[in-house]
Amino acid sequence: MLENRNSLSAGFCFTVLKMGHRLEEDKMKPRGGLKCCKLGIIFLLLTIISFVGPVSGFALKTCRISQNNAICVKSKLKAVPRDIPSTVTVFDLSENRISRIQAADFRDLPVLIRLDLNRNNISQIDSGAFANLISLQKLNLNNNRLVKLGENVFKGLSGLTELRILSNRMKEVASTSFKPLTSLQVLDISHNKLDSLEKVHLILQHLPHLGELVMKDNNLFAFRSWELTNRSLDLRAIDLSQNPIAVFTITEDIFPNLTRFNIGGSSRKQQMIWDVHNHTFLSRVSTLDISGLQMALGDMKTLLQRVNSSLTSLRMNAMKYNLAKLINMSCTIPTLSSLQLRYNKLKIVSSDLFKLCVNVTELDLTKSNIKAIDDNAFKSLRSLKILTLSSNRLPSVPAATRNLPALLELDLSNNNISSLQCHDFADQTKLRQLNLYRNSIPDLKDCLFKDLTQLQVLKLQSSHIRKLNGAFKRYLPNLTQLNLYGNELTAIKGGVFKSLRSLQNLSLHQNKITTLEKDSFVGLTNLTRIQLQSNNINKQQLDKDVFNTLINLRRLDLENNNIKYESSFALLNPPFSKLSRLEELSIPAQHYRNKHLLPRNFLQGLTNLLLFKVRNNQLVYLHKDTFSYTPKLQTLDISSNDLTDLPPELFFPIQNLKSLYISRASLHSLDIFIGANLTNLEFLQARNNLFSVIRKETIESLPALVYLDLQSNSFTCDCDNAWFLQWVKNDSRTQVFDAYNYTCNYPPVVEGTKLLDLDIRDCVVDTGFICFISTTCTILCFMMATFTYHFMRWQLVYAYYLFMAWLLDTKHKNKQAPHQYDAFISYNTHDEPWVIRELLPKLEGEQGWKLCLHHRDFEPGKPIIDNITDAIYGSRKTICVISRRYLDSEWCSKEIQAASFRLFDEQKDVLILVFLEEIPRYLLSPYHRMRKLLKRQTYLSWPQAGEHAEVFWQKLRQALKTKEDPDEDRFHLTLLETP
Ligand SMILES: *[C@@H]1O[C@H](CO)[C@@H](O)[C@H](O)[C@H]1NC(C)=O
Ligand SMILES: *[C@@H]1O[C@H](CO)[C@@H](O)[C@H](O)[C@H]1NC(C)=O
Ligand SMILES: *[C@@H]1O[C@H](CO)[C@@H](O)[C@H](O)[C@H]1NC(C)=O
Repeated sequence: MLENRNSLSAGFCFTVLKMGHRLEEDKMKPRGGLKCCKLGIIFLLLTIISFVGPVSGFALKTCRISQNNAICVKSKLKAVPRDIPSTVTVFDLSENRISRIQAADFRDLPVLIRLDLNRNNISQIDSGAFANLISLQKLNLNNNRLVKLGENVFKGLSGLTELRILSNRMKEVASTSFKPLTSLQVLDISHNKLDSLEKVHLILQHLPHLGELVMKDNNLFAFRSWELTNRSLDLRAIDLSQNPIAVFTITEDIFPNLTRFNIGGSSRKQQMIWDVHNHTFLSRVSTLDISGLQMALGDMKTLLQRVNSSLTSLRMNAMKYNLAKLINMSCTIPTLSSLQLRYNKLKIVSSDLFKLCVNVTELDLTKSNIKAIDDNAFKSLRSLKILTLSSNRLPSVPAATRNLPALLELDLSNNNISSLQCHDFADQTKLRQLNLYRNSIPDLKDCLFKDLTQLQVLKLQSSHIRKLNGAFKRYLPNLTQLNLYGNELTAIKGGVFKSLRSLQNLSLHQNKITTLEKDSFVGLTNLTRIQLQSNNINKQQLDKDVFNTLINLRRLDLENNNIKYESSFALLNPPFSKLSRLEELSIPAQHYRNKHLLPRNFLQGLTNLLLFKVRNNQLVYLHKDTFSYTPKLQTLDISSNDLTDLPPELFFPIQNLKSLYISRASLHSLDIFIGANLTNLEFLQARNNLFSVIRKETIESLPALVYLDLQSNSFTCDCDNAWFLQWVKNDSRTQVFDAYNYTCNYPPVVEGTKLLDLDIRDCVVDTGFICFISTTCTILCFMMATFTYHFMRWQLVYAYYLFMAWLLDTKHKNKQAPHQYDAFISYNTHDEPWVIRELLPKLEGEQGWKLCLHHRDFEPGKPIIDNITDAIYGSRKTICVISRRYLDSEWCSKEIQAASFRLFDEQKDVLILVFLEEIPRYLLSPYHRMRKLLKRQTYLSWPQAGEHAEVFWQKLRQALKTKEDPDEDRFHLTLLETP
C-alpha cells in the first residue's frame, strides 16, 4: 500500500508539476488558475484517501495462502488467526491447539465456503461465532472436545450443506442449536455420546433437507421410531452402526426414501431385536450394511425380506456366526449384485458357499483368512465381474478363478503366492485388471500372460521379482499400465517390453537396476510416463541412448540414482536428445558426497520441457547455457545444491519461468534476478540461504511474484532492510510466507529477534509525504501567482518598473559626478511645443539655466533607460511636465520614478512637478508613487498661473535655485494649493 501510495502521489505530483509548468508558461491565459485549483482539490482528496485507506497486510503470521485457500495446518495455533484475507474460500485450521472459537474469529470472511477445524481442542464455541460466514457450505469440527452445543452456535449458517462433528464428546444439544441450518444435507455426528433418540430428535426436527445422517458409535440403546420423529423424513442415507441398540422398532414409515442403511453391530455381545413388521417400510434400501450385527436368524430373515426387491449391495463384514446361511439368504434376493464379506474367518471356501449367488457381479473377500478355495467354489458365479481375494493366505492362484467367464478384475494382492504357472490365467480373455502385488514371485514365465489379450492394468509391484524373462515380449497388446516398482530387478534387458505397444505408464522405481541397454525400452512408443527413481542407474547407462525410442514420453523420473558428471563440458551424446515431447524431468539425488557438475548440454533436445528438478545433487555450478535448450520451462527446482552463485545469464532463455525453488543452495544474494527479466515468476522458494538484505530492485525485478518464501535466511536487521520490511507488511499482492518468523542474524545486539519487529521509523524517508508537501506548496504558489496576476496586473507592471528603476538607481548611487545640467526636463512628445516655445526660452534664454532635453541631449545608440537615468543623475533637478498624455506614457512615468528614487534614496529633492493641465486626483490614483509625492510636495500649475506667467517662471527659477535638502525646499515652494 505504501508502494501504491508513493507511486500514486509521485505520479500525481509529477502531473501537477508538469501542469503547473505549462500553466506558468501560458500565464497570459487567466483560466489557468481555476483549472489548477480543481486539480489541487482532487489531488488533496486523493492524498487524504490514500493516507487513511485500508491497508491489507500480506505476510500472514502462521498461514499460507494458495489459490484462495488459507492453510494453517499443524501450526500449533492456540487461537484462530485474524489476519486472513477476506477473499479466501477455504480455511484449513486442522491439527492445531485451538480450544475456543470466539465470536470475532471469523468476522470478515464473506466468501468462505469450507472451514476445517478438525483435530483441535475446541470445547467452547461462542454464541454466533460463525454468524458472518454467509457463504459457508462445509464445516468440519471433527476430533474436538465439544460436550454440548449451545443455542446459537450455528447462527447465520443458513447455507451450510455439510456439517461434521464426529469424535467429540457430545452428550447434549440445545433445542435450537440446529435451527439455522435449513440447507443442511449431510450431518455426521459419529463417535459421540448421544444416548437417546430424543436428542437426535432435537437435531432432526429443524433439518428439512437432510439427506444423510451418520451417527455411528453413539450410545443409543434403543431405536423407536416415534421417539425420533412424528413425520416422514427425506433421509436417503442413515448410519446407525456401532450403537448398542437392543431393540429396533419402526411403527411408522418414517424413512420412505431411504436407500443406504447401515445397521452394523457394536462390539458388545448382545443381540438386537428387529421389530419392523410392515412390508412397506425400508422397501427402497439398495445398499445395506449389517457388518458385525448380532441378531437371531429369524430376525435377519425378516430384515432381508424388507429389502427383497431393492437391494443391490450388501455388506456382511466381520460376521460372528451364521455366515453361510446369511450368504444363502441374501443371494436369493434377485437384485443383489455386490457382496462384501471382509474380515470373516473363512479359512477354506467350500464349493457350496456361493452356490446361490448366480446374479452377483462383485464379490469382495478381502482379509478373510482364506488359505484354500475349492476348485468349484465359484462355479455358480457366472455373472461375476470383480473378484477380490486380497490380503488372504493363498499360496497360489486358485484354480477356482479360472471358472469365471465374465471376470474383468481379479485381485490377488497381498497373499502368499510364490510362483505363477502358465495356466494360472488361462482363458482369461476378458480380464482388464490383474492385481498380483505383494506376493513373492521371483521369476515370471514367458507364457504367463498369453491369454490376457484385453488386460489393461497389471500390478506386480513389491513382489520380489528378479527376472522378467519373456513375460512382456509377446503378449499384453492392450496393457496401458504396468507396475513393477519395489521389486528386485537389476537389469532391463533389450526388448524386454517390446510387445507392450499400448503401454502408457511404466513404473520401475525402487528396484536395483544398474544396467540399462540400448534397446531396453524399445517398442514402448506410446509410453508417456516412466518412473525409474531410486535405482542405481549411472551416467554410463544414460550414455547408451536408452531413451531414444520413447518418442511420446512426457514424464521421466530419475530421482535417486547415481547420475554424476565431473565436468560441465558438452556431452557428445546428450541423453534426452530425442525426447522432444518430454514435459517433466526429475534427476534429484540423495547421497552424493562429491561435488557434481551438470554438462552444459545435458538438457539438449528437451524443447517442450516444463519442469526440471535437480535438487540435492551437490551441484556446485550451473553453466549459463544450461537452460538454453528448454525455452518453455515453467518450474525449476535447483534446491539443496552448493551453488553459492548463479551466472546472471542463466535465466535469460527461460522467460516463462513461473516457479523457482532455490532453497539450501548456499546463495548469498537475490540480486541475480536484477536484469534476469523473470517477468512471469510467481512462486519463489528460497529458504535456508545466506541472504541478509533484500533490495527493492530485486523485488521490483519480479513483477509477477505472488508467493515468496525466505524462511531461515540470515537477515541483517538495520535500515538496509527497511524497504523490504515495509514491503512485506504492506504489499497486498505478494504473500511472504512465514515472514513473522524471520529472525535477525546481524548486528549481534539484535541477534535472534524478529525481523518484522525492527523499528524502521528512523530509516524511512516518507517520499510520499515529501511529495505531498512540495506539491501542495507548488500548487499554492501557483494559485497565488495566478490570482495576483488576474486581479493586480497593473500593480504588477508598476512593481516591475519600480524594480527596474531601483536597479538603475543603485547603479548610479555611488557616482557622485558633478552635475552636467541644472535640470532634466521630462515631458511627453505631445507637450514638446510648450517646452520649446515657452519653457526653453524662459529658462535657458532668460534665466540662463543649462537644461537637458531628451530630443536634443540624449546620446544616440545608448539604451533609453540608461539615457534617462544618466540625465536624471547628471542634472541637479528634474522638471516633470505633467499632462494626461505624460501620465499615459510609459517612459515618462519611468522618468518620474527614477527621479523619485533619487528623492527617497539619496534624500535629495530633485523633483519639480509642473502641471500643464488640470488633472483630477482620481486619475493620478494608479500612479501610487506620484500621489504620494503630491501629498508631500508642492508643485507648479501652468493653467493656474494664468495671467501671472511671470510669477510662475519666478517660482520655477526659485525652485531650480534651491539646494537638494528636502526640508529646506518645502518652505520655499508653497506657492499654490492642490488642484
Ligand atoms: C421422497 O422422494 C420423493 C421424490 O423425490 C419426494 O417427492 C418426497 O417428498 C420424498 N419424501 C419425503 C418424506 O420427503
Ligand atoms: C404399512 O404401512 C403403510 C403406510 O404406512 C400402511 O398404509 C399399511 O396399512 C401398513 N400395513 C400394515 C400391515 O400395517
Ligand atoms: C437372477 O436374475 C434374473 C434376471 O435378472 C432373475 O430372473 C433371477 O431370478 C435371478 N436369480 C436369483 C437367484 O436371484
